[in-house]
Amino acid sequence: MDPSISSIFNPKSIAVVGASKTPGKIGYEILSNILGYGYGGKVYPVNPTANEILGLKCYPKVSSIPGGVDMVVISVPAKSVLDVVEDAGNAGAKVAVVISSGFKEVGNVALEEELVRKARSYGMRVLGPNIFGVVYTPARLNASFGPRNVIPGGIAFITQSGALGIALMGMTIVERIGVSSIISVGNKADVDDADLLQFLADDPSTKVVLIYLEGVNDGRRFIKVASEVITKKPVVVIKAGRTEVGAKAVASHTGSLAGNVVVYKVAFNQAGILAAHNVEEAFDISRTFANLPFPTNEKLVVVTNGGGAGVLVTDTLAEYGITLTNPPQSLVEQVRKLVPPFASLANPIDVTGMISNEGYVNSLLAALNNPEVGAVLGVYCQTAVTDPTMIAGMLISKVKEMGGLNKPLAIALIGGEETYMAIKRLNDFGIPTFPMPERAATSIASMYNYLRMRESVISRLKELS
Ligand code: ACO
Repeated sequence: MDPSISSIFNPKSIAVVGASKTPGKIGYEILSNILGYGYGGKVYPVNPTANEILGLKCYPKVSSIPGGVDMVVISVPAKSVLDVVEDAGNAGAKVAVVISSGFKEVGNVALEEELVRKARSYGMRVLGPNIFGVVYTPARLNASFGPRNVIPGGIAFITQSGALGIALMGMTIVERIGVSSIISVGNKADVDDADLLQFLADDPSTKVVLIYLEGVNDGRRFIKVASEVITKKPVVVIKAGRTEVGAKAVASHTGSLAGNVVVYKVAFNQAGILAAHNVEEAFDISRTFANLPFPTNEKLVVVTNGGGAGVLVTDTLAEYGITLTNPPQSLVEQVRKLVPPFASLANPIDVTGMISNEGYVNSLLAALNNPEVGAVLGVYCQTAVTDPTMIAGMLISKVKEMGGLNKPLAIALIGGEETYMAIKRLNDFGIPTFPMPERAATSIASMYNYLRMRESVISRLKELS
């Protein structure tokens, strides 16, 4: 892997070219985010017309910064970008993060090619152009003009779309989804998904990689790298442009070729990539991978207090190839003591709407602590005799007492306002919790799917080697 790629995530110093004193201008917002999110390296604003910006000495050029810089964030109009790259190259910069629009996406193919050629001639890599920046939470780096206070966590999010990417950055904060990184790749003139995957595969802070993908420049390399990465951690992709009309929309958005949907499907499957049906599912699955250990065996047990919700998760699981089998007898005996006599002790275990807060939590814990159970799905419908906030609180303290989860537990809490407060609390604690049964079922099913695909990818790679 090119060592310059790691400078995208861990630069020792950053110059912001086009830094501005004017709030609301992109050059101001990026500098302000870098400083405000707590980046610990050296930061240099570059603007020939200012002496000082946000309390920092301002430099007229990158080459006038003493000691040089690792990363140059460029936020000046497209026509000035090549001069800045030339100057930064001379100053020994390792990576140019080119925010500016006005390249291939508007037909300026030659300008984009020249940008890459010039940068590479100095050994510099280019992220972008036409991007909103990069975030890497382990380094407290937020060199973007998106929301500032992203939550640290295990998801690396690579996005080809700028506006959608920024919007989803905001969504992660509201939904309490932690990220290791958010990388806007825009036109992918140089650094692409495969380059980033190679870094993220060995990044200890990244548990799962989520990609919003419109198209790839080098499909073979992407699939080859992705299949190597998935032997280490899951890769979830939202492929946009899955239909003929969608593919046309992609062409006019980033100028990428969306490609043939069947080809993508087959390639993703072969590489072990999890293809999400939509953005919500992609983040649900990724949140689950980021927070939970893998199933310890094939026995998934569902504990529900609502028969209907139990049927819905059974259907969803079956659609993902998971058939629920009877719970272990030792678990049945344990739960029998906690539930009304008319409870169903099959799988799903239906503890009934009569169950108390304690009864529900203790049934979940019994499943979690049973050595024959590999994963647990809790499904809860708000009832008059239970309180979701209490359930969340009790569950959190019990899991803390246990020293954390040693097998996956995903939860659906279905109901009114109190359930939403409980969902937030559980998610903040790190138990993936969803407001709908199918979403929780899909998340846990994806873990089993990933393990199956990983196994087949590993054996295929072995055959090839
Ligand atoms: N070196 C240093 N500073 C320079 C240089 C240079 N060569 N040239 C200009 N500057 C200064 C300017 O004087 C200005 O400073 P000031 O505010 O003190 O006057 C500052 O740099 C910015 O230059 P402007 O000409 O004012 O440019 P502006 O900030 O309006 O726009 C930008 C620059 C943001 C890069 C714009 O050209 C652009 O491409 N915008 C689109 C960005 C975008 O959307 N990217 C995709 C993101 S994803 C999405 O879709 C949301």
